[in-house]
Amino acid sequence: MLEPEYPAVNIEEHRREFPGLAQKVYLNYGGQGMLPQAALEAIVDTYNYLEINGPFSIKSNSWLTKRASLLRQDLARELQVEPKTLTLTESVTAGCNIVLWGIPWQSGDRILLGDCEHPSVVAIVEELARRFDLAIDYARLKSTLNQGNAIEAIKESLKPRTKLVVVSHILWNTGQLLPIAEIVELCHRYPNGSIKVLIDAAQSFGLLPLNLSELGVDYYAFTGHKWLCGPAGVGGLYISPDAFLSLKPTFLGWRAIQDDGENQEISLKIDGQRFEVGTSAYPQYEGLRATLATHRQWKNTQDRYRDICQLSQQLWQNLSNIPNIECLQQQQPKTGLVCFRVKSKLTHSQIVANLEERGCFLRTLKDSDCIRACVHYFTLPSELETLVTYLQELIEPE
Ligand SMILES: Cc1ncc(COP(=O)(O)O)c(C=O)c1O
Repeated sequence: MLEPEYPAVNIEEHRREFPGLAQKVYLNYGGQGMLPQAALEAIVDTYNYLEINGPFSIKSNSWLTKRASLLRQDLARELQVEPKTLTLTESVTAGCNIVLWGIPWQSGDRILLGDCEHPSVVAIVEELARRFDLAIDYARLKSTLNQGNAIEAIKESLKPRTKLVVVSHILWNTGQLLPIAEIVELCHRYPNGSIKVLIDAAQSFGLLPLNLSELGVDYYAFTGHKWLCGPAGVGGLYISPDAFLSLKPTFLGWRAIQDDGENQEISLKIDGQRFEVGTSAYPQYEGLRATLATHRQWKNTQDRYRDICQLSQQLWQNLSNIPNIECLQQQQPKTGLVCFRVKSKLTHSQIVANLEERGCFLRTLKDSDCIRACVHYFTLPSELETLVTYLQELIEPE
């Protein structure tokens, strides 16, 4: 299908596809996105279809198998990879668990973590380290937000026994976009043997135009419910063909098993489905497909990303002009995440709670001690102005 060159409707009309956008300024896409109406309808339609045809029938089961395969195709197109390289999961954390527990670790192996990784990922790595006697190193990425070089920060933390590097494509607590292709190249050419790279794509999928084949990553764990605005509970994991064979499934179930007709012996599928386990909430799959279609009807991923950057730069500029606000990034943001600190008698939590009462949804972050606004391509400039006005009122009451 060709991407339309120009949208047929204006942004106000397109926003009506997302009923939740009405009457509020929603800026929490890094937490969870707004579902389009089409997704809600697709979910209900699917439940109806299953009830009418029997939720477990030859017809329904074969229909669901086809639908799951269509979702893999749609996601593969979004990521510029082959559908067989994808595993459908329920979240970023589920995808990271598949990779982290699936690597054949040996005592003394090392994992290099970025110092801005999500507690979900840190928790897995710490448990792994205890279980398999591994060492954890931390790359000092946070301090490279405004100066220094993220690639150098990774390079200086690699050690002869480093087996895996785990970093996010976009850092959730600062908004920094990491140069993943260069990081992957560095790791794959490490003189002591190629180091694999797992990317946490919680903040990048649905925000950045992606070509995973070009990025060269080994594993890319993503979710549909944040920037993509799909239903909660459907995500995915990309495993590169080179990394596939050495990864062992930790959890297994019927979805991983090859259907060999009369053959009684169990053999595992030879594609990403090997890491899928059991029954899922399949109607959500249809919800995610409908979400993808809603975005595509508007603009392609490059254009959507360009719009996100324009809007987040507008917000960053306007916030930077307020004397008691300090944006964490000193240069214009290259993502939709704008993190800032407010000097005020109010705490960040009080400010966010106050904004929410007025219909403006942001979040605080403990680690960078800041407030985070997530700007999407369909955010209106007027909504950003509203946020800035509210903040000014809170900081400088009349
Ligand atoms: C960077 C990052 N990683 C992982 C997660 C967890 O995502 P999920 O709930 O899809 O597992 C989040 C959620 O906010 C996140 O921001």
